[in-house]
Amino acid sequence: MNRLRHPVLRALLAQLIALSAIQFAATLLPGNIWIILLCQGALAAILGRLFGLANWWLPLNLLLPLAVVLMLAAALPPWLYLLGFVLLWLVQWNSAAERVPLYLSNRPTWQALDALLPQGPVRMIDLGSGLAGTLLYLARRHPESHFIGVESAPLPFALGWLRGKLAGSPNLQLHYGSIWDVDLSEYDVIYAFLSPAPMARLEQKLSSEQHPGSLFISNSFPLPNMAADRIETLSDRRQTRLYLFTAPPAPVLAPAPDNGAPHDGGHFVGARSGKR
Ligand SMILES: C[S@@+](CC[C@H](N)C(=O)[O-])C[C@H]1O[C@@H](n2cnc3c(N)ncnc32)[C@H](O)[C@@H]1O
Repeated sequence: MNRLRHPVLRALLAQLIALSAIQFAATLLPGNIWIILLCQGALAAILGRLFGLANWWLPLNLLLPLAVVLMLAAALPPWLYLLGFVLLWLVQWNSAAERVPLYLSNRPTWQALDALLPQGPVRMIDLGSGLAGTLLYLARRHPESHFIGVESAPLPFALGWLRGKLAGSPNLQLHYGSIWDVDLSEYDVIYAFLSPAPMARLEQKLSSEQHPGSLFISNSFPLPNMAADRIETLSDRRQTRLYLFTAPPAPVLAPAPDNGAPHDGGHFVGARSGKR
């Protein structure tokens, strides 16, 4: 099972085993097709769970055989499936490889970010900016600051870019590309609303690139090895949690005692480890 690291492959395997088992046992089951399909789905759901799939896969695996048969019965034109697939692919570009789907920060989160932004002009980046709603909101409210988004899903990027152009915000820039190619040292505030999957890699990137004093805010997903300096729980319906991490100051170089001897610098005091 370790080889099947991707959850979609595990789900597929569960469905294939369930399909074969039901074909084999078809004579033992009642003749009602809907009951047979539900049995197949239930078996796939149980197998999926045994293969380590998260709980939210249970209803998907349970209902998939039923949904497939219903869609086939609807006899929709084949191009409609292709169109649906392409649209879904262009939107949920990062679901398969990065395991980060598109879902959007809500208005209470925008307002909380607005209140959390440090005073004065800052450079803030949204890692995976989606439709750019968060940045558009903040760019309007903080004309003195700069807001940058990076997004690699083609359709959300295009829509966000168009919204940015229509809004005409001079302090907003949206780039097409991967968050892994961004140099995080250029930003005072780094915002991410991703998923648990990339957080360990992001933590490493932050440790090596964040400049001292810069603020990382993660919507909903903590970093695996660093304790947040502060957690804000919003009073929205999903009780959104914002995890705040401030990069520690650089080690201070204390001057070496002036004993007349030539020296080549100072020594470290107060250095902090990356783990907080
Ligand atoms: C949960 S959405 C958040 C959207 C937006 N930041 C917001 O808060 O409304 C995550 C976004 O990150 C994007 N994403 C995931 N991995 C990415 C990567 N490696 N490079 C660029 N964007 C990525 C996804 O395409 C998706 O649009």
